Amino acid sequence: MVQSTGPKKIKCAVFISGTGSNLKSLIQFSKKKNSLISIELIISDNPKAKGLNLGKIPKISKKVFNYQERKIAEKKIISEVKNKKIKLICLAGFMRILSKNFIKSFKGKILNIHPSLLPKYKGLNTHERAISNNEKYSGCTVHFVSSKLDSGKIILQKKVKISKRDTAKSLAKKILNQEHKLYPKAIRKVFSL
Ligand code: GRF
Repeated sequence: MVQSTGPKKIKCAVFISGTGSNLKSLIQFSKKKNSLISIELIISDNPKAKGLNLGKIPKISKKVFNYQERKIAEKKIISEVKNKKIKLICLAGFMRILSKNFIKSFKGKILNIHPSLLPKYKGLNTHERAISNNEKYSGCTVHFVSSKLDSGKIILQKKVKISKRDTAKSLAKKILNQEHKLYPKAIRKVFSL
């Protein structure tokens, strides 16, 4: 029997290195009625990434790649992503820098979420830096990935107020809650739905 699969969904791969709370929100988004994405693949550079346990749905395949040699890892990832006909790559706490060659292979199809209001605070320890600079606001950004770190075209941002009592940890938590809403919204915007 041939089952109807409904309207065609955008095949998506999510790259993670750790907890995977953004992956979780993307999985929930993909399961919504009439959702526009289907998550086909989870890729991690870290075999211990907690997020790998989230994709316990038979349809989502999970692959861990050893990043000792980036060139080899990326070659394998490219063939995996192409095999699965992935049309969108969502970086979600993936702690590796993709090579120019990798980015070129999927031009305009790689998104990233970053925990600051870019262009401010690119790179790591964003919350510590925002607090020690007495910023009144921080937030999160979803952007296209370009060859320069955290510098591709911005898709959406969400501002979060920093209170006097905030620590890097409490601010991270507040921002992460917003990230979970922002990533699906940004995907919708990219595909203008
Ligand atoms: C998020 O803050 C994301 O913006 C940053 O790494 C963190 C990943 O969190 N790039 P999680 O693994 O999705 O919980």
